Amino acid sequence: MGLNIYWRWCLYGDYEHYSGVILMAQVDVSSVVSGPVANQLEKFFAVRVQSMHASEIRELLKLTQQPEIISFAGGLPNPEAFPVEEIRKITDEILQSQGKQALQYGTTEGLPRMREEIAKWVTRLGIESTVDNNIVVQGSQQGLDIVSKMFLDPGDNIIVGSPTYVGGSNAFEAYQGVMHQVEVDEDGMNMDKLEDKLKELNKKDIHPKFAYVVPTFQNPSGALMPEDRRKRMIELSNEYNFLIIEDSPYGEIQFEGGPIKPIKAYDDGGRVLYLGTFSKILSPGLRLAYIIADENIINKMIIAKQAVDLCSNTLAQYIGAEALTRGILKPHIDKIRALYKHKWELMRKGLNEHFPKEHVKWVEAKGGMFTWVTVPDYLDSSDLLKVAIEQHKVAYVIGAAFYPDRSVKNTMRVSFSYPTDEQIEIGTERLGTVIKDAIKE
Ligand SMILES: Cc1ncc(COP(=O)(O)O)c(C=O)c1O
Repeated sequence: MGLNIYWRWCLYGDYEHYSGVILMAQVDVSSVVSGPVANQLEKFFAVRVQSMHASEIRELLKLTQQPEIISFAGGLPNPEAFPVEEIRKITDEILQSQGKQALQYGTTEGLPRMREEIAKWVTRLGIESTVDNNIVVQGSQQGLDIVSKMFLDPGDNIIVGSPTYVGGSNAFEAYQGVMHQVEVDEDGMNMDKLEDKLKELNKKDIHPKFAYVVPTFQNPSGALMPEDRRKRMIELSNEYNFLIIEDSPYGEIQFEGGPIKPIKAYDDGGRVLYLGTFSKILSPGLRLAYIIADENIINKMIIAKQAVDLCSNTLAQYIGAEALTRGILKPHIDKIRALYKHKWELMRKGLNEHFPKEHVKWVEAKGGMFTWVTVPDYLDSSDLLKVAIEQHKVAYVIGAAFYPDRSVKNTMRVSFSYPTDEQIEIGTERLGTVIKDAIKE
């Protein structure tokens, strides 16, 4: 009897040191459990679970934990960017003065103080919020799940980017949403293409409920959507009557200039649900994030969330609220920006020096943690990954993973936030060699 383990790999974090790629073992239960029930277990699964696809075995990625492999695969914040000492002090003080409350259950929507701090925090971005139109969630990922739970009946249509964040498409798929892809170029989701898609769908009497978009330093492409596209998206949402789910984990990490106005800041009709998180600007381990939306949506969301977790982590909210009150976040974000800008500059230098520029293009990152490399269309980046890992000891994430229909094969997500300076220098040279060799062949 075989034990079939499929590696389902998600591309936004690190788990068990797999160089930034979460690998979740999914066990084919029927082949493991013995006894009369063993072969019948599948039939107990809900239909939505049957639609969760395990990707093919990716033994290759296990190799990326070897120390000699340089990994550009992870979507992890650099741990240098964690304010460990400040958090330690705050936590000590909270446990001393308010320990009993901080270790207790809290309200589902979040601690009033945390909600107040969130409302203040987002005004810098031009978003109007009160305690009543935000909800605290345990990571934007939970937010995506709750949004899907609230808006998607099986078969409901939605718009996503091509490419799009794989954690988003996993959540939509789990609720059996039908995803229609719209091209993302260097300036994010292309609004002309979105309009064409909406027209095409409308002709078939298909009316998407929402469009999911990561407009600021998108995961995976690093693209930044300019203001005119943001405004146009609001116009289209009014014209074609859909909601916008704006997911913005990287919104604060611009390398130059002041805050970038989210789409939510242009929303006068309450159509935008804004997902913000402290994962990339404080710590992902705290699981502290929020959604800002119309109060009626938030009220329903509170009920939906109740069944998910009763309440978000109370201690983390005490810590987060205190960090915001003390104002430690703003100077801390400046440090993160400087660190990632430095990493990007090194990577950019490496790309310019070692990549065959006449055959390859990449997104010039203006913030965030990623660039997006496109190789000639006769190359498949999953074939290249095998060579990259086995022969050149360098890894990235294949772009196909970010297209719900897996249609595009010649792209790669390359992350610069986590590797050391030296790894960036050596790794870009190695990856450049992989691509040059493949082009020669
Ligand atoms: C676009 C996007 N959305 C959501 C998330 C999840 O973030 P959180 O840590 O807040 O759950 C990530 C994580 O990398 C992301 O890249």
